[in-house]
Amino acid sequence: MALVPMRVLLDEAAKGGYGVGAFNVNNMEQIQAIMMAAQKTQSPVIVQASRGARKYSNDAYLRHLMLAAVELNPDIPIVMHLDHGNSVETCRSAIEQGFTSVMMDGSLLEDGKTPSDLEYNVKVTSEVVKMAHDRGVTVEGELGCLGGIEDGHGANLDPRAHLTNPDQAVEFVERTGVDALAVAIGTSHGAYKFTRKPDAEILAMDIIQEIHRRLPKCHLVMHGSSSVPKELIDKINQYGGDIKPTFGVPIEEIQLGIKNGVRKINVDTDNRLAITGAIRQVFVETPAEFDLRKYLDPARSAMAEVVAARMTAFGQAGHAKDVPMVSLDEMAERYRSGSV
Ligand code: G3H
Ligand code: 13P
Ligand code: ZN
Repeated sequence: MALVPMRVLLDEAAKGGYGVGAFNVNNMEQIQAIMMAAQKTQSPVIVQASRGARKYSNDAYLRHLMLAAVELNPDIPIVMHLDHGNSVETCRSAIEQGFTSVMMDGSLLEDGKTPSDLEYNVKVTSEVVKMAHDRGVTVEGELGCLGGIEDGHGANLDPRAHLTNPDQAVEFVERTGVDALAVAIGTSHGAYKFTRKPDAEILAMDIIQEIHRRLPKCHLVMHGSSSVPKELIDKINQYGGDIKPTFGVPIEEIQLGIKNGVRKINVDTDNRLAITGAIRQVFVETPAEFDLRKYLDPARSAMAEVVAARMTAFGQAGHAKDVPMVSLDEMAERYRSGSV
């Protein structure tokens, strides 16, 4: 099976009422870990690379590793997705490198830091949609800015002002034609998301419910969705690490999201934590060890375990066989004819 457009996976997930984890990669072991988990659970797969990952690994290495994953796993549908593209040019270069899906994150300006306005976001995202759909490639957009409600945005400012506005979401999806919409509900990237187990005050699941009510056919995406399990943090700290107490997004909240139109769930941090804990354990327990396979192998297994657990919790397990093989050309034709 070749790489497939993400739209096909998400449409199938919507039909089946499940979510699909999107796992970040930077190297061979992480791609292998995802494929090990996919084989074990018979799940369709979204592998995603950030700009940093593309720079670190070099597009060509990444492309060939992904093609190896396809060759070795002919029964598993695999999407290669660009995470947080910062410009039309970044998305264009990803498409040229064989990515079957791109995220145009126009919620921020090209520097990837400064919040943009709606007009800018609509403009750059629409441009990417046109370019990508012509080639059958899927597009994820983002509206609202990631970041915690707890972080405080000044004494007199509304701490929810950066979250996605459901009225704007309807306008944004209609004007851009994106296949999937990432929403800001108070999550953030990395390990330090919440200072306590999140409740409705600091994790705005109501926004997802409202957007899904208004846009029932739109595939929603949750970023910053690592659960940051205490046992992964404890293991790192047990072996000399220094991760402060913190809380992630509880699995049951993600499952509530999936019931309300969330089809793609981004997870990176949990895998980084699992890998780090496994490597630290080898370094501490066998300080004389310097064969890299002796620590990269357990690191890979630790990540595979986390990924398999997420695939099962999100409901994608067992659905690899249900995803139809659709080529990019066929998908481009569907966009042209208006059948999707
Ligand atoms: O976007 C956030 C992902 O965790 C990727 O992180 O930019 O450090 O590769 P990164
Ligand atoms: P985490 O840092 O919660 O894993 O989020 C990853 C992400 O959203 C990548 O785009
Ligand atoms: Zn993200």
